[in-house]
Amino acid sequence: MKAQADLAFHGLVHDLNNVFNTILDAAELLESDPRWASLAELLQRNARLGQRILGGFAESRGAAVSVNEMLESAVKVATDALRAQDCDLEVHCKCEPGLHIRGSSTAWERAIVNLLINAGQAMPKGGAVTIQACRAGPHVEITILDCGPGIPCEDLERIFEPGFSTKPECSGLGLHIAESIVKQNGGSISAANREDASGAVFRIEAPCALAANS
Ligand SMILES: Nc1ncnc2c1ncn2[C@@H]1O[C@H](COP(=O)(O)OP(=O)(O)OP(=O)(O)O)[C@@H](O)[C@H]1O
Ligand SMILES: [Mg+2]
Repeated sequence: MKAQADLAFHGLVHDLNNVFNTILDAAELLESDPRWASLAELLQRNARLGQRILGGFAESRGAAVSVNEMLESAVKVATDALRAQDCDLEVHCKCEPGLHIRGSSTAWERAIVNLLINAGQAMPKGGAVTIQACRAGPHVEITILDCGPGIPCEDLERIFEPGFSTKPECSGLGLHIAESIVKQNGGSISAANREDASGAVFRIEAPCALAANS
């Protein structure tokens, strides 16, 4: 009985998320026409409010986050934000299908967006980022590799400290926020440089969650 109720609940969350995403896509189309801009804003505000309410409710019921969907959404948010800074990030996703982790998809998305924005800022003229996600025993492992200059060895120890930044006018909070989110969800995050010295690599391990249909 419980499994059936869980399946119905996860199905409902999934379908309602699709409804909100469709409204957001339609609002994005309307936004470019000044005659409809305020209607677009109203739709976006309400669809996002709906997503937040649904996300909070799903989280309170211990819902599982689809890693693929969460990464897809994070990539969209980060690439849009970087494009506005004239940085074209080319993202290659190699993700095992059907992976789920515990927590709130909005929080996980925020953590990944911070990592992708950092990768973009390390490659201001644009460049490639590879995201890999796979099952590793009881965990899901998410790896983000960029092709920037990498992180100086003496900084590797400090980059997760709040306020540590090597960028002018940046607050140095992005990685601290990402680490807090990962830890709140029972996971861990580490940073290193790629073995071929051609960029940075961030690795997240998070406990697997049971998917709605497993
Ligand atoms: N992909 C990366 N490549 C090279 N250095 C990085 C990368 N990611 C993080 N860093 C280093 O870690 C520091 C801390 O990153 P963090 O995201 O916490 O802060 P920030 O990006 O400087 O500022 P904020 O995120 O608050 O805007 C960065 O200033 C940078 O020196
Ligand atoms: Mg940052």
